[in-house]
Amino acid sequence: MSNYHIKHLEEYFQVYRKSVRNPENFWEEIAEEHFLWRKKWDTVLSWDFKKPEVKWFEGAKLNITENCLDRHLATRGDKTAILFEPNDPKEDTQHITYTQLYQRVNKFANVLKSQGVEKGDRVCIYLPMIPELAVSLLACARIGAIHSVVFAGFSANALATRINDSDCKVVITSDGSYRGAKTIDLKKIVDDALEDCPGVKTVLVAKRIQSEINMKDGRDQWLQPLLDEASEEGTATVMDAEDPLFILYTSGSTGTPKGMVHTIAGYMIYTAYTFKNVFQYRENDVYWCTADIGWITGHSYIVYGPLANGATTVMFEGVPSYPDYGRFWDIVEKHKVTQFYTAPTAIRALAKEGVEHVEQHDLSSLKVLGTVGEPINEEAWHWYDDNIGKKNAPIVDTWWQTETGGIMITPIPYATPTKPTYATLPFIGIQPALMDENAQEIKGNQADGRLCIKFPWPGMARTIWGNHQRYKDTYFSAYENMYFSGDGALRDEVGYYRITGRVDDVIIVSGHNLGTAPIEDAVNEHPAVAESAIVGFPHDVKGNALYGYVILKETGESRKHDNLRKEINQIITEQIGPIAKLDKIQFTNGLPKTRSGKIMRRILRKIAGKDTSNLGDTSTLLNPECVQDIIDNAL
Ligand code: PRX
Repeated sequence: MSNYHIKHLEEYFQVYRKSVRNPENFWEEIAEEHFLWRKKWDTVLSWDFKKPEVKWFEGAKLNITENCLDRHLATRGDKTAILFEPNDPKEDTQHITYTQLYQRVNKFANVLKSQGVEKGDRVCIYLPMIPELAVSLLACARIGAIHSVVFAGFSANALATRINDSDCKVVITSDGSYRGAKTIDLKKIVDDALEDCPGVKTVLVAKRIQSEINMKDGRDQWLQPLLDEASEEGTATVMDAEDPLFILYTSGSTGTPKGMVHTIAGYMIYTAYTFKNVFQYRENDVYWCTADIGWITGHSYIVYGPLANGATTVMFEGVPSYPDYGRFWDIVEKHKVTQFYTAPTAIRALAKEGVEHVEQHDLSSLKVLGTVGEPINEEAWHWYDDNIGKKNAPIVDTWWQTETGGIMITPIPYATPTKPTYATLPFIGIQPALMDENAQEIKGNQADGRLCIKFPWPGMARTIWGNHQRYKDTYFSAYENMYFSGDGALRDEVGYYRITGRVDDVIIVSGHNLGTAPIEDAVNEHPAVAESAIVGFPHDVKGNALYGYVILKETGESRKHDNLRKEINQIITEQIGPIAKLDKIQFTNGLPKTRSGKIMRRILRKIAGKDTSNLGDTSTLLNPECVQDIIDNAL
């Protein structure tokens, strides 16, 4: 267990040095000591960032669910694996033990098999945060099917695009979901989506809100009766290390969403190892990550990382504001949560409501606090540190991405001294680089550049589903022999990293990655719209909010602008989901363009952020006259 818990900074440096001097030996030791293999590997690593191709533990055979479930049964069979906290605090908490989870996964896997799902088939999962969601991921993994979870806040259209892109033949959903005081008719969204998805032959429906729904004959089936009949025994399909485990879509700066493909062995090792060290997880801790399993944070740090460690992982169905703004802290107190992992957006939203909601609760169980998904501002960091951790629980500001599979830059709690707004040091085995505008690596500290990674790590995505060229173009073409993250970062005088934000056209709103192109496409679908440009602007809770500049086809458009704004946001909700709605929509007669016709977003971003003092050189624009007009009418 030598490498599995890092206790002080010197030890971090020692282990780090070892991990980068001989990465193969380092990761091989971890793989040998901590996991269950049906057959060991022939080669630890082969890689070529030019192709790009990365393979870890080639030749090895395993099933990830044997590592997350079977091997814990003897020692942790009665331990709670998933602690399910429902939306309504009056409804009972569910403690699902490792034995029960194992049985439920087997039943579900047997149901999938009986529906004709085979190894390598893609299964789309569109579920709220109920236990079936975690169970369905593991059930797919049990039989070697590739899961593609779509966050249940996405619209029918967005769901259909994702189902078709990876050619899913089964969809798992529920009759509906609870969200605070509201219910959402998920099945209706699936029905709408499936009108455009001829490849889907089967829909399995979990019951959650007991609503009347439409069940299509020959296609839709209630899940529970099938589960009731299924056996709770089942052998796991033996998989190759580099077989795909799942596809998870993330926004790109242009085009359709990218189906990032993660493979089994490397992802398992990386999520398990990061989980244990970044959260300093110990037996009998109660760990809670508030993310939705529809995002990578939930995949890696609600399901796979914790379960591979035999941990107790909390799954919360509800929202932080229901029934009041003290809900998170109520849950922490009730279950004596030891590690709490959330997004800066949630911290800012809760801080705004005042400390009264916090003060009523005993939060003394907390040992580690985490944040993820977007830069955390200094004020929010201190609020979290002062009021939640009471300065006794170190904050781990963890930088990573859907593409990286697991945490990449982070403090190790109780070892790395923290610094507000800094993700601090690279995780073990991670070799970051900052690149300058001439594509040269900036050596030394006090540097500012584009964040790349120089060497493969086990958790990295291997390709984009169905489009390896795009994977190469997006991540491996900007800099030779480097993975390019799309983020900017600076390195301070002691080598700590601070993430400064995206350097492409991806905007992080409330911690969610949104590409501008699909939103613009949605806006342009409005019959009155000729052209649009979307940029982000600072928002005190969401981090960034969306600002749309819209040119109408007819300048004398008679409809009221406010109605048009509503209609445009309605289209965005239908095409993508409510998370992509625009906070501000400015109607304008022109958009600043370069001579090659490209919109100068830099200028639009500054105007949206009310920072017009230094717009740079606008004289090279095709239409510089429109800039003043946009400034004069800015919202
Ligand atoms: O811009 C970075 C930001 O979130 C992006 C990745 O988003 P996604 O793939 O949805 O994964 C989010 C959860 C891992 C990154 O490119 N980001 C993530 N964590 C941080 C962050 N920005 C600053 N600080 C962080 N800790």
